[in-house]
Amino acid sequence: MESKIVISAVNIRKEYVTKRHFITGKVKEKYVAVKLASFDIEEGKTVGIVGESGSGKSTIGEIVGGLQEPSYGHVLYYGKNLKDLSDEEYRDYRKSVQFIFQDPKGSMDPNYRIIDILTMPILTAKIVNNKKEAKNLAEEMLNRVGLDSSVKNKYPGEISGGQCQRAAIARALLLNPKLIVCDEPVSALDISVQAQILNLLRELQKELNISYIFISHDIGVVNYMSDTILVMQNGNIIERGPAKEVLLHPKEDYTKKLIESAFV
Ligand SMILES: Nc1ncnc2c1ncn2[C@@H]1O[C@H](COP(=O)(O)OP(=O)(O)O)[C@@H](O)[C@H]1O
Ligand SMILES: [Mg+2]
Repeated sequence: MESKIVISAVNIRKEYVTKRHFITGKVKEKYVAVKLASFDIEEGKTVGIVGESGSGKSTIGEIVGGLQEPSYGHVLYYGKNLKDLSDEEYRDYRKSVQFIFQDPKGSMDPNYRIIDILTMPILTAKIVNNKKEAKNLAEEMLNRVGLDSSVKNKYPGEISGGQCQRAAIARALLLNPKLIVCDEPVSALDISVQAQILNLLRELQKELNISYIFISHDIGVVNYMSDTILVMQNGNIIERGPAKEVLLHPKEDYTKKLIESAFV
């Protein structure tokens, strides 16, 4: 069967203005976070992005997910330039591309219970007809990600980092995403909990045919999760290929160093 491409990044470049003239506003200095990046993400597959801190990984994730606009180049959603999407298509895209971040507690309002944090977005997106249906769906999803019902009435501050990341995954899944941008999703968790979350993400992918962009500084973790790996250094993709190929036969010294530091 022919595979479908969910997202394409086409010649993406991202410049941040770091200094402007204080009167005219003219750009005096800019920093190029991503120099040139192109890649495709197929349905049900994972593209891993690995590289040291500051190499431009998060910037790429944010651009692909519509949180930021590229300075040059464009993003295609099922072959259509984001700029050409109708309002309705754009809403569908924003719902279909979800994020999971390193710090799940930081991405949740501490003043709401987990169940409310999960029901709000599905009510807003009109995925359900009423609050009762939303609650049922949210409870089902919490269950699916391995959280027992005692968690639903707790506040983010009252549960562990691993439990909170599971809740964040549940929240993302409730919107039926095609793609989840996972930005260092296990980097803040204990090693034993990391493996559980990675395995959960893999199971969910098989079951739901979701695509992932999996971002990490740890090439071991990226390899475990990914079909294809992009290696980033200083805003450039310096090496890419099937995960096994990159791990077993790295071409660049930088990639070799990442491998050495991951498997000491
Ligand atoms: N809003 C911003 N303004 C200026 N520079 C930024 C901004 N966001 C990120 N950067 C810089 O761009 C580079 C890439 O950042 P990022 O994509 O977060 O890298 P990574 O996720 O690989 O650590 C870093 O040097 C960072 O300091
Ligand atoms: Mg980052």
